[in-house]
Amino acid sequence: MRFYNYILGIIAIGLIAILNTSCSNNKTTNIDEKEQHFVDSVVNRLTLKQKIGQLCQFNTLGNINQMINLVKNDEVGSFLNVNDPEQINQLQKAALESPSGIPLIMGRDVIHGYKTVFPIPIGQASSFDTSLVRQACSIAAEEAASDGIRWTFSPMVDIARDPRWGRIAEGYGEDTYLASAMGIAAVKGYQGDNLNNPKSIAACVKHFAGYGAATAGRDYNSTFIPERQLRNVYLPPFKAVVKSGCASVMTSFNDNDGVPSTGNYHILTDILRFEWKFDGFVVTDWNSMSEMINHGFCADSENAALMAVTAGTDMEMCSRCYADNLENLVKKGVINEQLITERVKNIVRIKYRLGLFSNPYVNIPQEVKYSQKNLDVALKMSEESAILLKNEKVLPFGSNVKKILLTGPMADAPYDQLGTWCMDGESSHTITPLKAFQNSSYEVVYIPGIKYCRDKNTSEFQQVINAAKTVDAIVFVGGEESIMSGEAHSLSNIHLQGAQSELISQLSKVNKPLVTVIMAGRSLIIGEELDKSEAMLYWFHPGTMGGTALVNLLSGKAIPSAKTPVTFPKSEGQIPIYYNQNSTGRPASGKEPLLDEIPLNEKQTSLGYTSYYLDSGFGPLIPFGYGLSYTTFSFENLKINSNTFSINDTIEVSFNIKNTGDYDGVSIPQLYIRDLFGSITRPIKELKRFARVAVNKSSSIEYTFKLPVTDLAFCGMYFVDTIEPGKYKLWIAEDSSLQNALEYDFEVVIK
Ligand code: BGC
Repeated sequence: MRFYNYILGIIAIGLIAILNTSCSNNKTTNIDEKEQHFVDSVVNRLTLKQKIGQLCQFNTLGNINQMINLVKNDEVGSFLNVNDPEQINQLQKAALESPSGIPLIMGRDVIHGYKTVFPIPIGQASSFDTSLVRQACSIAAEEAASDGIRWTFSPMVDIARDPRWGRIAEGYGEDTYLASAMGIAAVKGYQGDNLNNPKSIAACVKHFAGYGAATAGRDYNSTFIPERQLRNVYLPPFKAVVKSGCASVMTSFNDNDGVPSTGNYHILTDILRFEWKFDGFVVTDWNSMSEMINHGFCADSENAALMAVTAGTDMEMCSRCYADNLENLVKKGVINEQLITERVKNIVRIKYRLGLFSNPYVNIPQEVKYSQKNLDVALKMSEESAILLKNEKVLPFGSNVKKILLTGPMADAPYDQLGTWCMDGESSHTITPLKAFQNSSYEVVYIPGIKYCRDKNTSEFQQVINAAKTVDAIVFVGGEESIMSGEAHSLSNIHLQGAQSELISQLSKVNKPLVTVIMAGRSLIIGEELDKSEAMLYWFHPGTMGGTALVNLLSGKAIPSAKTPVTFPKSEGQIPIYYNQNSTGRPASGKEPLLDEIPLNEKQTSLGYTSYYLDSGFGPLIPFGYGLSYTTFSFENLKINSNTFSINDTIEVSFNIKNTGDYDGVSIPQLYIRDLFGSITRPIKELKRFARVAVNKSSSIEYTFKLPVTDLAFCGMYFVDTIEPGKYKLWIAEDSSLQNALEYDFEVVIK
């Protein structure tokens, strides 16, 4: 009977889902009539050549006259990487005076700030602070707009479960829900309430789709993501961001299961246009259209243009497949001009929404750059993104700590601390730890010991050790140079490079508190360094204000609150590693014997036969969602509005957060669920909500999460989003290990 009800339920909900999704047709929504009329009237009068020009984006040619000529001839619709406001004004004037009269959209990678540099995106995710991410992106937008940039190639919401992949730095980590929340916040920040505001810039969510699953973490490598996993893990952040109004989408470099994204009709049209009703435009990644020839997916540039334009790609970045072939393809009758007209409309629609037709010129004052207000937000975000991984009563420094040894290759590395994708932030504005300590009341002895992170030279070590003996505490700042992560910077060895571990090891033998601070682009393997340090602050490159943030954190002026947005592995061999894996048929109990414990000549049958590694067990070094503070919290008094819910209900989960330590602080409660039984195997836990809640010492605050039952939907057996009836578990936890979590069982029923 239960099974019968269950099947009926699935069919009922499946039907609703099918009705919701498959009623879509190739008409997009949200297009208001005035806008539609404007776009039609502009595009319908264009010649074929002018239309093709709108579909072309070129990198800056450096030479303004050459660029102006292209614009005058209507051969280009967008440039990337021109950011001289005077040149932009000249180009826009030429565009308005060209036969088409269509303004340009000027794009650039404004990834984690423009001039004021915020922590890299994975660091922003560590803050679990969506409102701060929104603020940072709005600052980045205004600073960029002051140079005439009205389009950023951000946010990147590629789910990344492999820290060997250098671009893990540019996204929001491994979790679908966290990445969705961060992506929405970023888009709201860039685009503001209205794209028409000269301070707003269009966002571009990337890389669509699956790029973060590059095989073995090697950038640009193929991916093999099956449809259901695509829909349950990799696509939801894109869907969420598109639904929040993101103006553009960038295709990814990878081929998934044999199909390069730029020529993938299924994702670009079936899913993006028909299912999600996206009404902005799709741009390729740099040369990714012509690279379909390298993939062996297209025979030549004409074939690449054909595959891309029919799949749903609107604008081509850099390569010239569209410029060189579309006209011929229409003339030969291979494609209908109407297809090109539709592609152009998607672009013109966004140019219209940006207000470029009425005012394409730069009109934001230059003074917004590095303003005190912007630097203050950058400082706050650096503080909120520092993850305290260990603290043996060392931090914050007490009054006994007056003299500090500052050492390590990142202690004064003004460029490297800004992180990857820093095209515009100037290192002359960076506050390094050294600079900040020198402006503090601490007496600081600075000896780098190692000049840069890959440096293997140990000749300065003795001097560092001698100095260490004379101070009250040691602060080692190391990690990765900026160049070691980001695009095309994958690594197969993700331990600390150079002689860094050796220096930490030697410092740990001096009988002084050792605080290790890491600034990196990925989750490194840091088990040994963690053991040898009394405290560790882990930072993804913290940006312009990192040094000030560090002194504030060490001194207790700022209290750590950040959490890991990725699981930290014990060794490279555990990768890919992530917390929300599906349940295996033989889950590990955690009590399995490890190599060292297995007696010689032990019989095979006594080993347990569960899913774990003989040498590293099952668990990670550090779980997703983990991070300490100077204070401690406990969750108590769980109350839930019911234990049985139907589809239209909302689960309301209330609990008390008690500050049980000695400092005021911010707790980040996390709500996880587990669907115990489904039409397909389900994750052993899934993050569904989180919050930042300030709780003063000795106080307790009641907090409530609201989770609509519809948020339990997933792509099930029949490839439609379904909410399946049955039993679930729910936890309110401090991190994904669920240690000390409050737990509750509930059921979803079909009424
Ligand atoms: C990257 C994109 C970036 C584009 C434009 C490509 O190499 O993959 O993320 O937006 O270049 O600079």
